[in-house]
Amino acid sequence: MLTPNPPSACVSSIIGTGSYMPEKILTNDELSKIVETSDEWISSRTGIRERRIAADDQATSDLASEAARRAMTAAGVTPEEIDLIVVATVTPDMFFPSTACFVQKKIGATNAVCFDISAACSGFLYALQIARHFLNAGTRTTALVIGAEKLSTLINWKDRNTCVLFGDGAGAVVIRAEDPGKDAPGRVLSTVMGSDGTLTDVLKVPGGGSACPITAENVASRPNTIHMEGRETFKHAVTRMCKASEQALEAAGLTKSDIDMVIPHQANARIISAIADRLGLPMEKTFMNLDKYGNTSAATIPVALDEAHRQGKIKRGDVVLLVAFGGGFTWASSVVRW
Ligand code: UT7
Repeated sequence: MLTPNPPSACVSSIIGTGSYMPEKILTNDELSKIVETSDEWISSRTGIRERRIAADDQATSDLASEAARRAMTAAGVTPEEIDLIVVATVTPDMFFPSTACFVQKKIGATNAVCFDISAACSGFLYALQIARHFLNAGTRTTALVIGAEKLSTLINWKDRNTCVLFGDGAGAVVIRAEDPGKDAPGRVLSTVMGSDGTLTDVLKVPGGGSACPITAENVASRPNTIHMEGRETFKHAVTRMCKASEQALEAAGLTKSDIDMVIPHQANARIISAIADRLGLPMEKTFMNLDKYGNTSAATIPVALDEAHRQGKIKRGDVVLLVAFGGGFTWASSVVRW
């Protein structure tokens, strides 16, 4: 667990949000023609009705760059003002260069330092905290924090346990270092993070990396696709996200009754309602859009945050709790005063 509120020269505020979802929609009914499944099973077990699939010529950095442009427009900043780009992704364009460097080139953020981070579905909140450390320390002023995934490239379309769950998309925020005395909207009040590497086997893409390169012999067994023990992941997701939420609230000096809106990782509607239940919150205070997009890993939270903002579901002054869980296992939670 990292120190949630380090002493700092500045504070960090979210000054703009943006998202981009690919046009192509893949419905549950269409999936039921590919694998043995049904709209009834998928929607009742997960809440997902459809997901977006990126075009063959769209890489993760293309989705990320469009989300970034929209966030910069909302923030009223130029690409030259961005001095840090952190992209959270498990589907980078290539092993290297980083997806963040491709984004830099595509949006013309010539003054930025750029790198990716890998924390699966918790990636966006990890990236937010990393960027926040740079800003709070006074070493950078204006950062793009992006969660972007082309998960369709990691899916085994013959595995009904996983292929119905995931989709493609990107979300971004611009955060800016502010004077602690200024009453700026979007202030990030706290972030807590955690990891448990003893559970790396439960949710993973086993092949395609240095441990198990793809060879002519193993390619048919599709090791470079998502493997997940669903029930085990579900159990840990609920427990860890509830605990992380409580810790982030405590670090911000707030309690559950202060929450105006929870924006949780969008993996399963049953996980989200279990979290709402344990936090004692009505579902109206819990944002969900997984019916439209499925699980887009690092992109779910920035996409949901952007939609909640644009739909007027979060207003200036609201206490917004962000909480995520993913492969590793990793988890994180952040409290923002909107
Ligand atoms: O983003 C990172 C975090 N990820 C998560 O948090 C995901 C957590 N896990 C889950 O959301 C759920 O565990 C799943 C949605 C993945 C699965 O739901 P479940 O209620 O845990 O189902 P299950 O895996 O226990 O499977 C129940 C049955 C099985 O059949 P039998 O063995 O009972 O005959 C599966 O074979 O449902 C079957 N099944 C399906 N049936 C129709 C599994 N997938 C499908 C499917 N269509 N797509």
